[in-house]
Amino acid sequence: MQAVVQHIYGPPETLTVSEVDRPIPATGEVLVRVRAASVHPDVWHVVTGRPYVVRLIGGGLRKPRSPIPGTDMAGVVETQGARFAPGDRVFGETVRGHQWHNGGAFAEYVAVREDSLTPLPDDVPFDQAATVPTAGIITLQNLPPLAPGAAVLVNGAAGGVGGMAVQLARAAGARVTAVDHPSRLDLVTADEVLDYTTTDFTKGDARYDLVFDIPGNHTLSAIRRVLAPAGTYVLIGHDGYGSKGKWLGSTGAVFKLVAMSPFVPQLPKLSMKTPSKQELLTTLAKHLAVGDLTPTIDRAFPLSEAAAALTYLTSGKARGRIVLTM
Ligand SMILES: NC(=O)c1ccc[n+]([C@@H]2O[C@H](COP(=O)([O-])OP(=O)(O)OC[C@H]3O[C@@H](n4cnc5c(N)ncnc54)[C@H](OP(=O)(O)O)[C@@H]3O)[C@@H](O)[C@H]2O)c1
Repeated sequence: MQAVVQHIYGPPETLTVSEVDRPIPATGEVLVRVRAASVHPDVWHVVTGRPYVVRLIGGGLRKPRSPIPGTDMAGVVETQGARFAPGDRVFGETVRGHQWHNGGAFAEYVAVREDSLTPLPDDVPFDQAATVPTAGIITLQNLPPLAPGAAVLVNGAAGGVGGMAVQLARAAGARVTAVDHPSRLDLVTADEVLDYTTTDFTKGDARYDLVFDIPGNHTLSAIRRVLAPAGTYVLIGHDGYGSKGKWLGSTGAVFKLVAMSPFVPQLPKLSMKTPSKQELLTTLAKHLAVGDLTPTIDRAFPLSEAAAALTYLTSGKARGRIVLTM
């Protein structure tokens, strides 16, 4: 089969497309014919090996532990499994656990654990579904329960994770304020939009029950000024493709908040109780099926142009998600 192959850490140009053997599914896995795979920031992290913490926590110390990038995909099952049969349309995450290592999705076929897949609802296209798993999972894991009418601000609302947060918060009945670059605000369906180049939301009069923050470009004290007393601040963090240092990237700021969380009531407490990946994917599939989640695709690249797709991702020019289609 054709696959994108990564032998060393480096810029996207180090990726090549090669003929490799089809993977053989292990027990508990099925082979999936990939129809679309997501090109998202975490793929860039593993291709470049930046920040270095990626290499320490599973990517591979000196070179990528497994050679084919990609973690999120949608496609058609090829082999019989316990839950899935040949011909089933599915989507899911090809990696076990976190997404900071190569998962083999940038290929014509990938072997995936059945509990990391879920049926793809009829009428949902492969490209849209492929963009949902890791961004949707991280959003569901971090979005606190929201009362109808809750005031939610999403900073970085037009991006992969922010876009999920806006749509899932609105599906829960929240009133959402979306903050992002003016060139992309028309893509976001929110109750209010704010242009970050002209408006600093931390200086406004509104108070929010939740600030869901992707870029993390404000201090905690500035954020707390606009949080309701019983509100919650969630930081996802965005490394900005290497702009936040070689070692930890944005994870340093996230760890700092986790350390402060026992002392600051508005910070979420660490919890070991998290739904399984299968449950989270099922929830995301339900939202896709009823039209709560409708990711916008900016551009689809062929497998042979994976390097160009990653370079386009880092350009900041995309208006919506980027996928490889096969
Ligand atoms: N996408 C996924 O599947 C996924 C899954 C798990 C974890 N993550 C992690 O989550 C983080 C975010 O990923 P993403 O896919 O959401 O990234 P993204 O698509 O690049 O979105 C980030 C958004 O934040 C905006 N932004 C930048 N600076 C801002 C500011 N000062 N104020 C308001 N908005 C600002 C960006 O706009 P500009 O272009 O103007 O900068 C962009 O629209 C990454 O660190 C990634 O590693 C992503």
